[in-house]
Amino acid sequence: SDQPLVLGIETSCDETGVGIVRGTELLADAVASSVEEHARFGGVVPEVASRAHLQAMVPTVHRACADAGIALTDVDAIAVTAGPGLAGALLVGVAAAKAYSLALGKPLYGVNHLSAHVAVDLLEHGPLDEACIALLVSGGHSSILRVPRVGGLELTELGATLDDAAGEAFDKVARLLGLGFPGGPLIDRAAREGDPAAIAFPRGLTGSRDPAFAFSFSGLKTAVARWVEARERAGEPVPVADVAASFQEAVVDVLTSKAIRAAREAGIDYLLLGGGVAANSRLRELALQRCQQAGIRLRVPRPGLCTDNGAMVAALGAQLVAAGATPSELDIPADSAMP
Ligand code: KG4
Ligand code: ZN
Repeated sequence: SDQPLVLGIETSCDETGVGIVRGTELLADAVASSVEEHARFGGVVPEVASRAHLQAMVPTVHRACADAGIALTDVDAIAVTAGPGLAGALLVGVAAAKAYSLALGKPLYGVNHLSAHVAVDLLEHGPLDEACIALLVSGGHSSILRVPRVGGLELTELGATLDDAAGEAFDKVARLLGLGFPGGPLIDRAAREGDPAAIAFPRGLTGSRDPAFAFSFSGLKTAVARWVEARERAGEPVPVADVAASFQEAVVDVLTSKAIRAAREAGIDYLLLGGGVAANSRLRELALQRCQQAGIRLRVPRPGLCTDNGAMVAALGAQLVAAGATPSELDIPADSAMP
């Protein structure tokens, strides 16, 4: 095949991800997570994450090569998440990518984590030569983006959260319900036994005078906390499944309605979901239902490709190689605040 063989490295948070792709074909997706080490702290501890990346980096690269059935020397390019993310965590991946690039004599591509969350869909659904709206929802970001070309670098933000990211809200509510960390998957599971209409939690920024594509989740989180506190004060049991389901419904209702509105107003036929929260089963279900009603085509990668991984970085790297993009210099910084 004349498609570029690209190794992608992702270390922006607590997942050491190494993916290998040939063009838009996924060959390997090795992920080592330090999530267990953070669980007892109730959140990701940056220093713990950095050290775990350092330990997992080389073994994960070797595992990915073995899974793909390639030798490291076969790769045409190395791609790496250069930002945004945790500074120390990013640094480990960027340093490793530079070392592989230099040692193998292959070009380096430093990429944006959010662009990679969008590009990963190419591995699942193939090229899309039309503009799409992307709803990017993770632990650090919640944005609605206009994407002229999936696998390109130009993303226009139409709106973003004014306070907490959607994943952050899931994690905080899970903590106050005593479910553990990370909260997203735990709420997702608890909600299956609950009634999403049990409690009418607020839908932030959905008034007619509110910004159409901005989000706010901190008021929702506070509303859940107050509701739970009132129950406890009254000495009544907290119906965890109902609270989880009602909270989740409030989040995914707002996310899907605003994203679909963005697509309709822009006359765009495709909605793409990405980021860890896009693994949420209710978000996927409601997005599909509302897209079908609105005549919009939904593209959402399988859950394992929504949460952080190296394949998404490799997927974007392969697009850059194919487009003849200029490689990064070997002294590129890890940019924790990359826009
Ligand atoms: O994209 P990601 O893996 O890392 C960041 O770039 O932040 O997203 C992690 C976030 C966490 O907040 C996690 O709780 C959330 O995604 N998440 C979920 C689910 N799986 C992961 N949220 C809701 N439902 C899920 N099934
Ligand atoms: Zn992410």
